[in-house]
Amino acid sequence: MTDDDRPSNPYLTGLFAPVRDEVTAFGLPVTGRIPDGLNGRYLRNGPNPLGVDDPAAYHWFTGPGMVHGVRLRDGRAEWYRNRWVRSDSVAGQLGEKQLRGPRHQDMDFAPNTHVLRFGGRILATVEGGALPYELDEELGTLGPYDFQGTLPGGFAAHTLVDPASGDLHAVAYCWAYPYVEYLVAGTDGRIKRRVDVPVEGSPMMHDFSLTESYVVLYDLPVGFSMDAAIAGAGLPYAWQPEKQARIGLLPRATDTGAGGIRWIDIDPCFVFHPMSAFEERTPDGGLRLVIHLVRYDRMFADGRHGPDECPPRLERWTVDVNAGRVRQEGLDERPVEFPRIDPRRTTARHRYGYGVQQPTDGYGDTRAARHVTEATAGGPPVGQMGLGIVKFDLERGTSEVHRVHPDGDVGEAAFVPAEPGGPDAAEDDGWLFAYSFDPVRGATDLLILSAQDISGEPVAAVHLPARVPVGFHGNWMPDE
Ligand SMILES: [Fe+2]
Repeated sequence: MTDDDRPSNPYLTGLFAPVRDEVTAFGLPVTGRIPDGLNGRYLRNGPNPLGVDDPAAYHWFTGPGMVHGVRLRDGRAEWYRNRWVRSDSVAGQLGEKQLRGPRHQDMDFAPNTHVLRFGGRILATVEGGALPYELDEELGTLGPYDFQGTLPGGFAAHTLVDPASGDLHAVAYCWAYPYVEYLVAGTDGRIKRRVDVPVEGSPMMHDFSLTESYVVLYDLPVGFSMDAAIAGAGLPYAWQPEKQARIGLLPRATDTGAGGIRWIDIDPCFVFHPMSAFEERTPDGGLRLVIHLVRYDRMFADGRHGPDECPPRLERWTVDVNAGRVRQEGLDERPVEFPRIDPRRTTARHRYGYGVQQPTDGYGDTRAARHVTEATAGGPPVGQMGLGIVKFDLERGTSEVHRVHPDGDVGEAAFVPAEPGGPDAAEDDGWLFAYSFDPVRGATDLLILSAQDISGEPVAAVHLPARVPVGFHGNWMPDE
């Protein structure tokens, strides 16, 4: 990339810049002490383009996925690996053979958004119609996965495991379909339930919420744009100011299919990531849903390269199911993204949530300008997204922060329970795993924070030999 390309696309520069090499490193140095019992892998996915024809047209969401993983065992950091997911085009660019396996509608995309383990398989996932890819335990790509032939179309980036059943829930969408698809997979890795919910405008539904009784759909005014596609937009989705924003309450239990869904209109906004959702009874015996999520005033109205036109805010939405009303309240003034909770609390009442605090400036036109200025003038790293990890006490309305180096960066923090126990275990008894760029070393650390002492020193920092570009989501996968 030449210097001339830099101003054209902040998502290809600085901490966002793709890495060129796949690295394998053993016996990683550690500061602090890796807690006993942490045997497994921390994997995180993110876009890592392999040659970009037109930097000005590149959208951050569209780079082929690269998974970065650290293997921990018996108190040691055994290895770090980073590997591209081998879609057909990635395999071709790397001079490798295409992998066998199912395809969906000729869509060829290396999932770049999330990585999880379910039913004994490690899956890299993405939304919009492409299939997940299965990885081996050393991050090699095994091939596309269609849930043993039971997946009717494409899949989803975000999934939730209901701790009560162990089932995997997802909401899939594809621009070509006039519906979105609620899917449930059993622990045998086969889809066992499917509800097609009619929608208009081919909405982007990045994530969803799950309570004991409901699936909550976010049908918001960002949708597929044929105009943008024809114009060659990197991501052909755009703000649809004419569209009514609404949330859908789809009953989980009944067999009424999509006919049982109830839509509630809300003011225009966009949501990539709910943090959590649970149900509670109202004093008069009604039902309400309490949802914590990250809200944007708008999305893809004018940003061409990434989701950076206005700041994300943590909100609580209280849904009065009987009255069909939503009360929305802001919980924090700081921009925050990548919300997570203790996964054992999925669908259950909970107290704590975690997120990444983002800079307060640099939204809209100023972000690109900031990149240009800082790329040439020094100062904070270009592409800094995470100033620290915030632990929210949602009951008391307080928070604590683990700040990283002011010139560093930190990504999503995944909660790792100290003991596998059920929801009776202390909710914050565990660790937070996050990749954090250390500007002093010029490389990335895997931070292991104590969730009960988040503002303290990391319990351990595993020093990787490379930079992990700013990316998306990941999970800790304990040895089975
Ligand atoms: Fe996401």
